Amino acid sequence: MTVTPHTNNHQVVLITGASSGIGYAAALAFAKSGANVIATARRVDRLASLETAVQRLPSPHGAIYAVALDVRDPNDMQLALQKGLERFGHIDVLVANAGVGQRGAVVDSDWDDLQILLRTNIDGVLHSIRAVVPVMRKQGNGGHIIIVSSVAANMTAPYTACYSASKAFVSSIARSLRLELEADHITVTDMLVGRTATEFNEKRLGASGYAARAPKLPVMPAEKVGEAMVKAVNKRQKTVILRFFDRLIIWANALVPNIIGRRALKQYRV
Ligand SMILES: NC(=O)c1ccc[n+]([C@@H]2O[C@H](COP(=O)([O-])OP(=O)(O)OC[C@H]3O[C@@H](n4cnc5c(N)ncnc54)[C@H](OP(=O)(O)O)[C@@H]3O)[C@@H](O)[C@H]2O)c1
Repeated sequence: MTVTPHTNNHQVVLITGASSGIGYAAALAFAKSGANVIATARRVDRLASLETAVQRLPSPHGAIYAVALDVRDPNDMQLALQKGLERFGHIDVLVANAGVGQRGAVVDSDWDDLQILLRTNIDGVLHSIRAVVPVMRKQGNGGHIIIVSSVAANMTAPYTACYSASKAFVSSIARSLRLELEADHITVTDMLVGRTATEFNEKRLGASGYAARAPKLPVMPAEKVGEAMVKAVNKRQKTVILRFFDRLIIWANALVPNIIGRRALKQYRV
């Protein structure tokens, strides 16, 4: 990866988990909108493909800078941000997107899987926020943080309970952080994403067999989520739910959580 200083007044967006799925689509959408993107993940070969895809966008488009990063490591996070700042000079938007799925009973799941889930979906989001906000504050121009949560946050979700709880955690953080950062003019978006066509399901940790009777839910393309992120920043949206179907899921969980939970219990039981 060549590093040439590229500082200008373009919006600069740091995205975690940009090597595939929603993060990859978000990187393309922000670059298309003219933003400069710091694209981070562990798989550098995938990030290189993303760099090529951005360079092939019709001009004008923003620049891309790929940086290897494991979100579970706070030092890695600081280093990636530092490299991004050296390249682009400032930071305006964080998309805290990197995440993994996990399926399995709370008690019987492999502890190593649960550690990866919690360290990635919870620690990873906190590390990115705690790295970026002090820089945004110092810059004094406000900023925007998009936290990628799920319609599964707050769901009664037997056999995907730890994943759902990890998303409930980040949604809760989003709501409180929004008030903590109000005085700094930093907007926080809680992005409640529904089923999206990505590698997410096939890479899910834990008992894949539990999905055998899972319902076929409507799936949206990752590009739709990426474009919604650009809109969320432009319109300073606080909560984003992309589809009516996703809204229905959230309402049903709020109104009749036990009915939803019992359905999931039947579908996911081994
Ligand atoms: N797909 C869905 O239906 C859906 C629904 C609701 C919410 N979401 C959320 O959307 C987000 C993105 O998921 P996706 O669907 O796009 O799945 P994906 O294609 O599997 O993407 C996950 C991304 O996270 C990165 N990642 C995982 N562990 C990491 C680590 N330790 N350090 C750095 N990066 C890491 C992966 O990159 P590397 O492996 O290269 O590091 C990859 O770029 C997740 O937070 C997920 O919970 C997805």
